[in-house]
Amino acid sequence: MTRVVVNLDLPGPIISRHVYGHFAEHLGRCIYGGFFVGEDPDVPHAGGIRLDVVEALRELRIPNLRWPGGCFADDYHWRDGVGPKGSRPRQVNSHWGDVVEDNSFGTHEFMHLCELLGAEPYISGNVGSGTVREMSEWVEYLTRADDSPMADLRRRNGRDEPWRVPFFGIGNEAWGCGGHMRAETYAGLARQYATYVREHAGNSVYRIAAGANDDDYDWTDTLMRALTRVEAQGAAPFQALSLHYYTMTGPWEDKGDATDFTEEEWYRALSRAYKIEELLTRHSTVMDRYDPERRVGLVLDEWGTWWNVEPGTHPGFLYQQNTLRDALVASIHFDAFHRHADRLAMANIAQTVNVLQAVLLTDPETGALVRTPTFHVFAMNAGHHDAHALEAHVVDGESAVVDGREVPLVSVSASTTGATALISLTNLHATEGRTVVLDLRGAEIADYEATVLTAAATNAHNTPQDPSAVAPERFDGVRRHARGLEVALPPHCYATVSLRLS
Ligand code: AHR
Repeated sequence: MTRVVVNLDLPGPIISRHVYGHFAEHLGRCIYGGFFVGEDPDVPHAGGIRLDVVEALRELRIPNLRWPGGCFADDYHWRDGVGPKGSRPRQVNSHWGDVVEDNSFGTHEFMHLCELLGAEPYISGNVGSGTVREMSEWVEYLTRADDSPMADLRRRNGRDEPWRVPFFGIGNEAWGCGGHMRAETYAGLARQYATYVREHAGNSVYRIAAGANDDDYDWTDTLMRALTRVEAQGAAPFQALSLHYYTMTGPWEDKGDATDFTEEEWYRALSRAYKIEELLTRHSTVMDRYDPERRVGLVLDEWGTWWNVEPGTHPGFLYQQNTLRDALVASIHFDAFHRHADRLAMANIAQTVNVLQAVLLTDPETGALVRTPTFHVFAMNAGHHDAHALEAHVVDGESAVVDGREVPLVSVSASTTGATALISLTNLHATEGRTVVLDLRGAEIADYEATVLTAAATNAHNTPQDPSAVAPERFDGVRRHARGLEVALPPHCYATVSLRLS
């Protein structure tokens, strides 16, 4: 029997709600057909923004939204996306399907979307093919209050008040689609570009440099060294480094199928999801050498599963289904995020609607909206937002061995607000249930309730015809135990136990 020890009276660092952030790129049907339907009379919208999508995401209280890319960000010229729609220039979206982008969704539409969602904007600037001046003027356009040239232009385009832009990215994947740069070259550019991302009218900006892919620790080391050198002269041009990590079961050419997978592939995917723990630990350790107080943030601004596209869909649009397996990939990531609350400032799932590990899917024919299993994990975890992380020590846990690595079969994390606590439990076993004793110390449990997300099959997923095949349910597998609570987890499930403390 697995035992999990949690000291309820030893609150750790705050889990920023921003680790539950999102990412929306001009890619496939994420913006067009996902968030934005333009003038489509058949779908209720506000200024072209789908209201059912807004309503669903408000249920998740999404804290921030990253836009316009991804790779698209380093091809994007913001001036093409402001002003009268009829006169906006078009451009080729060369990364994603080589399609023509009409720029009908631009800065004003994105900021309107953030207002509707109640989410904070995270804008990715263009370093790869843009200029310092272009980036600087975009920030002025967005945030300046007086009669500066860019603030005037914004007013002529219909917006009087400046917006708040708390997060700004200095390019994207500079080691790849963002310019194929060497780390030293990008580090110099990051310092230069970030200098011109200015704080106007009291808008304070958290500047995020384009960080490493996966386990490229040298990239992190180079950026940290560059940052430290400038800091020694009294200025920190950027406040955080990003990191990108995707979960797939095969090589790039054949990443695995989203719904048709073997038991071996089930475990391989979950074992690869666990790699996030190692990546956060090791990147953070590199950062510790330069920043032992952990003032510089790590921002995982792209994460999630990346499978082969659904048969019959455009290979450049990255549309994939989302099963219970994706939900468990998400819960494993969130557990790791909670353990790294002292360094991880933000994380953004790729991507919110219709692309990669989406939380929402829209049907191109009927327009129907589907909440995916991953959506439900986000919803079940809302209680972790801005709560204090609690250490959860697993005793006598069992593991599987996958590709030579130990994969714990139960993943756990916990947080507290003082009066309440939330415990997350994932049973990775494909076919067997697991009993877990929660050894809860330091507070009395006045009351508890639990929720579970599971289904008969590991590849269960939601469709317009069956939108609730995988949906959270009230969980009655929890009872009091001499040490706290005993939880009978069904096979392949994610569960949360909320406690009221006294
Ligand atoms: O999320 C899809 C793509 O993955 C992004 O555009 C890019 O940054 C990454 O390679």
